[in-house]
Amino acid sequence: MTKLRWGILGTGHIAGIFSRGVAASRTGQLVAVGSRTQESADRFAREFGLARAHGSYEALLGDPEVSAVYVATPHPLHLEWTVRAAKAGKHVLCEKPLAVNRGGAVTMIEMARACGVMLMEAYMYRCHPQTAKVVELVKSGALGRIGLIQATFSFCNDFNPDARLWNKTLGGGGILDVGGYPVSLARLVAGAADGKAFADPVSVVGAGCLDPRTAVDVYAAALLRFANDVVAQVTCGIGLLQDNSVRIYGSKGWLHVPEPWVTTREGGTATIYLHRPGAAVPEEIRITAPPLYALEADAFAAALAADLREVPQMTAADTLGNMAVLDQWRAAIGLSYDADKT
Ligand SMILES: NC(=O)c1ccc[n+]([C@@H]2O[C@H](COP(=O)([O-])OP(=O)(O)OC[C@H]3O[C@@H](n4cnc5c(N)ncnc54)[C@H](OP(=O)(O)O)[C@@H]3O)[C@@H](O)[C@H]2O)c1
Repeated sequence: MTKLRWGILGTGHIAGIFSRGVAASRTGQLVAVGSRTQESADRFAREFGLARAHGSYEALLGDPEVSAVYVATPHPLHLEWTVRAAKAGKHVLCEKPLAVNRGGAVTMIEMARACGVMLMEAYMYRCHPQTAKVVELVKSGALGRIGLIQATFSFCNDFNPDARLWNKTLGGGGILDVGGYPVSLARLVAGAADGKAFADPVSVVGAGCLDPRTAVDVYAAALLRFANDVVAQVTCGIGLLQDNSVRIYGSKGWLHVPEPWVTTREGGTATIYLHRPGAAVPEEIRITAPPLYALEADAFAAALAADLREVPQMTAADTLGNMAVLDQWRAAIGLSYDADKT
């Protein structure tokens, strides 16, 4: 089988994790890396056994050996490098959020379509069989009529005004970094309740705390109401410990997903819990899966091999719906970025 030839754009934290995922995938082959500095590209290439290390992103995009590019820069740079990669004829898996706002995402999606390349926003949890199991349970009626969803992704990171997470110029803050996960899960489940791929909320009410020094959101919450009367409470943060889990409440039972996002990162078994009225203990549902980021690389390659225009687990329409909610959530707490002005 011909493997999909990946080029990694950026050499930070997630670039290394995804590269290990490609190495563990069935369909992918790591071919090259591009960095703003040759030194960093060389270091990364040594670590991952890559023969091709480029000292600029332009050089990576000009590498004819590369078929698909993984964009792993801070969010505000996603737009420029995805557009440039598409123009260079490369398929693109771009980290989340696809752009700082919905308008940027539209530009990227239109450019990918115009250039005839595939583009996916890298919500890796969407490619995990645990997520598929949650959707299956909701669609099957196992929980009855779905009413409420609670979903959280949050962590407590030390303040550093220069770091990506805290720096506004670099797109810092919790809503953009991790808020998109609970929002996308809520939209997925609210849609599944009606047998659809996703649903978009009819209202978004948000609240949050902005850091007094850099004005990025430290933690935030939002209430999403959907047309089918599903209500979701989503929370996120970069400076607060929370219970990173999902709970889905229905008329016949409720589901607890203790590790909804970064599950089986190295491969293994995840467990979700189905609580039923009167049962002393919940039913345990176990899902064994390969490494999470290998699943993402394989989902991307499978869509390409099947000549699909997009990856079914995270379509362009789904991304745009998610970005629209993040825009509304940010507006509700008075959080804007330079990209919002253009
Ligand atoms: N899906 C996931 O599980 C997951 C997890 C973490 C992060 N992410 C996403 O991945 C993206 C990168 O996050 P990260 O945590 O990997 O960030 P990071 O560790 O700070 O790395 C970002 C990389 O981007 C490049 N870069 C280009 N311009 C930059 C600039 N002006 N300042 C800093 N770095 C710059 C750098 O690579 P070079 O020096 O080599 O050019 C840097 O190493 C974000 O959009 C984030 O939301 C996704």
